[in-house]
Amino acid sequence: MNISYNEKNRVFKLDTVHSSYCIGIVDDENFVGHIYYGRKLAEDNLAYLMRTEEAPFVPSKNNRDRAAFLDTFPMEYTGNGLGDYREGSLEIRTMSGHSGVALSYVSHRIYDGKDPLEGLPATFGDAKACKTLELTCEDRILGLQVILSYSIFADSDALARSVKIVNNGQEPVYLTKVMSVCIDMDNDGYEMITLHGSWGRERAIQTRPVMKGKQSVSSIRGESSHQEHPFMAWKKRTTTEETGDIYAMNFVYSGNFLAQIEENQFGSIRAMMGIHPYDFCWKLESGDSFQAPEVVCVYSAEGIGGMTRTFHDLYRNHLIRGEYKDKKRPILINNWEATYFDFDTEKLLNIARQASELGIEMLVMDDGWFGRRNDDNSSLGDWQVNEDKLKGGLKYLVDEVNKLGMKFGIWFEPEMISPDSDLYREHPDWAIAIPGRTGTLTRNQYVLDLSRKEVRDFVYEMFADILRSANIEYVKWDMNRQLSDIGSYGLPADRQGELFHRQVLAVYEMQDRMTKEFPHLLLENCSGGGARFDPGMLYYSPQIWCSDDTDGVERLSIQAGTAMVYPLSTMGAHVSDCPNHAIGRVTPFETRGYVALAGTFGYELDVTKIPEEDRKMIPEQTAMYHKYNDLVRCGDYYRIAHYADNHYFDCYEVVAKDKSEALVTYIQVLNRPNFHSRRICIPGLDPQGCYVIENAQDWPELKQTEYMGDTLHYAGINIPPLWGDFKGRLMHLKKK
Ligand code: GLA
Repeated sequence: MNISYNEKNRVFKLDTVHSSYCIGIVDDENFVGHIYYGRKLAEDNLAYLMRTEEAPFVPSKNNRDRAAFLDTFPMEYTGNGLGDYREGSLEIRTMSGHSGVALSYVSHRIYDGKDPLEGLPATFGDAKACKTLELTCEDRILGLQVILSYSIFADSDALARSVKIVNNGQEPVYLTKVMSVCIDMDNDGYEMITLHGSWGRERAIQTRPVMKGKQSVSSIRGESSHQEHPFMAWKKRTTTEETGDIYAMNFVYSGNFLAQIEENQFGSIRAMMGIHPYDFCWKLESGDSFQAPEVVCVYSAEGIGGMTRTFHDLYRNHLIRGEYKDKKRPILINNWEATYFDFDTEKLLNIARQASELGIEMLVMDDGWFGRRNDDNSSLGDWQVNEDKLKGGLKYLVDEVNKLGMKFGIWFEPEMISPDSDLYREHPDWAIAIPGRTGTLTRNQYVLDLSRKEVRDFVYEMFADILRSANIEYVKWDMNRQLSDIGSYGLPADRQGELFHRQVLAVYEMQDRMTKEFPHLLLENCSGGGARFDPGMLYYSPQIWCSDDTDGVERLSIQAGTAMVYPLSTMGAHVSDCPNHAIGRVTPFETRGYVALAGTFGYELDVTKIPEEDRKMIPEQTAMYHKYNDLVRCGDYYRIAHYADNHYFDCYEVVAKDKSEALVTYIQVLNRPNFHSRRICIPGLDPQGCYVIENAQDWPELKQTEYMGDTLHYAGINIPPLWGDFKGRLMHLKKK
């Protein structure tokens, strides 16, 4: 890890373990240009790549074609309205109504470590683990300072970027667009990878060619969303899982975002990511500053898999925090799909009694324990225990659960308010709304206006009181609707455009406060399943509920897409009942267990009601979790085959960091008649190591149980067809 500045060439070079990133300052106007991002280079003499000697020449040589220069020069971070017609990184409006802004280099600072971003989640590391370059740029006319931050890590190929705007001018200025990152480079026949979905179908992987014009993914829903994801990668067409160049960006933010690649007239691309400019207008008073959230950039020459593993390690080591950061999570049973709203103390205790005998370690009481909430039409905001349901109160229930040797967890949805709630009747102006308009309801609820301090303090105290009242060791923090009707009774007219972002900042502030007051709490974020599965939330909670779709087969896609970026340790995954409540599919209990093993692992069913043969399997599954979770949580993840591509089977692997063992999960989604075995290649092992199939009894068809690592990688192994659909097996490889 090194950051250098070559004063003669005016070139900055940031070196990670395997990549280099170069920035150049050019011409007497100090334009900040992007020179190179890719494989690690030994030298920093790269100023020759800046094309300043080619037409269109830099303005000092030919100001006649200034626009032509600005419109083609590869900028590190761009202004707006002065001749660069590509998508701008920063857009503003002055008090006199003008929008032009241009940035020039002023100074820089290189320091050990990485400063936190005020009020925002971000990757972290101490003086030994990180180095940071801060480039201070300026628009002198406006008195606007733009500080571009670049942090690198000793143990990673990631680059964390963020931007801070300081208004040193005399007047306020409106920021109408502040991207967090911009990278310009020539298009080398790139393809773009993005993640798409809907409720119950989150984060399916999509690949498309990068073409002329703009291609983007975004959210204007006030959350990172089910539909599109704050992640994009671009790779060469020849890049595979294991080899080739790939670049990626992932936004450490949980609200509106834009991720876009634009190919211009000369075949170069501009990739950018940041807060979506839709309905964004931030009034920056003289002397104030605005901190844009962080984007994590990754370059890998080791294919899509190399990129994935870089994200996983970075997030495990430099983003996720708290007591459970590196710890095995308790196996939980959640009563949502077991009872929905129809439960009471006895029903929950019956589930807990059975569950504790089967090796389950925590009971989570989901939605419906508060106010008068017997369906989803009321009571959000009334965070008082419904003692008609919970006879004897919450503490009694928690104590009884604890007596069984189990932990207790609880569900909240703190950002919401039901029109049918005491809170709404008392404070109708606390909901986000446009005065005079009929509010748009989703699931019969409004969103609380958390930009108002009195609202977030009130709500915080309400749910913190519940947490203080009993031995609650886990919280599922839910958020079940997107934002609309953007309007705050607490903000003046010229600050209404701040509401989307202020709402996200408020959620961060509340989660920060909660995790500080209750440092031992295990927090799991959730949003109607996985609508807010993003690095921003991971900064506060080490795990996030992946999807309301718990079907073992659907989960293969959802988890493969999620694991493209996020470590398996973060993916909330449960074994649920059949026929599945989201899709009606019936899959073997055993297979559901294998699929959930790739996440945090737990149950979401009424253990007192499931068939006896399924119940009997639970102790084996909980033992399997204890046996493999260290490997799954901490190991290197490899995608091997995906049934969305081959329509037949799915296969992935986790290899221990020291390559001493590996766990291969093979799920045959559909069987085929008259078909021979499938050849799978198992990467990531020690090529010279001899591996034994430790659970050989589960693979009676295989004549041989010992293989060399390189044989398994390049020649592979023939997996026999399994009888029936939705069948799965694990293969545990141990190095001799
Ligand atoms: C969301 C969550 C579910 C459950 C319900 C409760 O949909 O994703 O797991 O908690 O809310 O209303």
